[in-house]
Amino acid sequence: MSQEHPTALLQIDGKSIELPVLTGTDGQKAVDVSKLYDEHKIVTYDPSLGSTSVCQSAITYVDGDNGILRYRGIPIEQFDRPSPNFIEVAWLLIFGALPTQDERDEFRARMTKHQLLHESLREQFGNVPPGSPPMAILSAMFSQLACYYEKFLPLGDEELFVEAATRIISKARTIAAYAYRRSQGLPFMYPDPALRFCGNFLHLMFSLPYKQYIIGQEIEDAMNLVLILHADHEQNCSTSTVRIVGSAQANLFASCASGVSALWGPLHGGANVEVMKMLEAIYNGGMTPEDCLKAAKDKQNPFKLFGFGHRIYKNYDPRAKILQTAAEKVFSQQKTEDPLLDIARKLEELALKDPYFVDRKLYPNVDFYSGILLRAIGIPTNMFTVIFALGRLPGWIAQWKEQHDNLNQRICRPRQLYMGEMEANYVPIEDRE
Ligand code: SDX
Repeated sequence: MSQEHPTALLQIDGKSIELPVLTGTDGQKAVDVSKLYDEHKIVTYDPSLGSTSVCQSAITYVDGDNGILRYRGIPIEQFDRPSPNFIEVAWLLIFGALPTQDERDEFRARMTKHQLLHESLREQFGNVPPGSPPMAILSAMFSQLACYYEKFLPLGDEELFVEAATRIISKARTIAAYAYRRSQGLPFMYPDPALRFCGNFLHLMFSLPYKQYIIGQEIEDAMNLVLILHADHEQNCSTSTVRIVGSAQANLFASCASGVSALWGPLHGGANVEVMKMLEAIYNGGMTPEDCLKAAKDKQNPFKLFGFGHRIYKNYDPRAKILQTAAEKVFSQQKTEDPLLDIARKLEELALKDPYFVDRKLYPNVDFYSGILLRAIGIPTNMFTVIFALGRLPGWIAQWKEQHDNLNQRICRPRQLYMGEMEANYVPIEDRE
């Protein structure tokens, strides 16, 4: 072993196997087992990938022990102000640096140009059963996008990639709003080219043919912040899904559509909806905060304290702090309040004093307060995961691009530990018991 080429020693079956050790920018050590099977017919075992790095990435850095989140090195707290907007954060994540004025204006112009849906896609919403869950509508319509943009499916051309990426982000905003309108039986509005990304989304969500939605600056800023905070989070479940699907050289539309499906799960992006159900159950008297914690700690009970805990954060999720403060700011600007915020604070206070949560380092995560801020903006609960998906698109696209730009990238094809019968015989049905 040498300092410039550190190694780890694996001793197994009387053999000593020297494995290379890689070191991340943050000093994280990784044992490189990528050739372990080919050279020694040995596999590692890590079913939830909790100890496994599946890529080298320079996009987002998370230090879970210290509650740190940085986009291309920039601390997430620095985006908690009106000037950064979601479109420039999307550019930062996808292309690696903050855009110049010209780059941002050009990117914004592309987004404006691509905000309309093809009329036949817009008409498709009419075939969706009224009252369908918006996530089901988003998933269905998102997958249809590729039907309209076949020429942007090929890989390897930078201009085709930018055209595909801007269409996906801009049209997903329109699809998301239409998913809400369809679920409410409301007529569809057309995007307004004079509005920016978040303002247009709010217009598509809340304007009526006879009444233009007045976009308050604090509400537009809050929407912008929600999308920025959800934009990327290194190798989470949905992003890893996008990378795995993309490793087969599936196009960007198909890869992002797979991310929508993974994000839908209540342990991942669907948690923000579960948090609201939990807070509303307490508010409606169905249970007390103490009942909540008791149920969450009961191993016989599948109930979890949604919005708490995280695979990486063993400290406060910095996004949760920013979202809580942003919700309080919107309430004070609007001179309103939400009893659910007080209930959330009470739950947090009890949990952070409870040995079960303290011992397991379970803190509020991004989903614990996001719903309260989204409610303050006027977004209904069944749209929360849709908003999460809208925010996460630049991260999925950036991670997909980073993987595709790596010319050594191979298809992701994990091994298994086979535990079944080694050999059995086919028994004709008449001979079976
Ligand atoms: C997101 O990965 C990302 O980056 C995701 C995300 C992103 O931006 O992409 O940050 C977004 O998905 C946030 C997480 C949203 N999900 C929830 O809020 C659902 C509730 N949380 C848990 O389901 C759980 O904490 C996870 C899924 C978030 C993490 O699961 P892990 O890492 O597999 O942790 P675990 O289930 O092994 O928990 C360790 C222990 C267990 O108890 P013991 O077996 O040690 O006795 O902690 C317990 C768990 O039972 N535990 C909880 C709990 N979370 C963990 N117990 C009660 N309530 C909880 N919320």
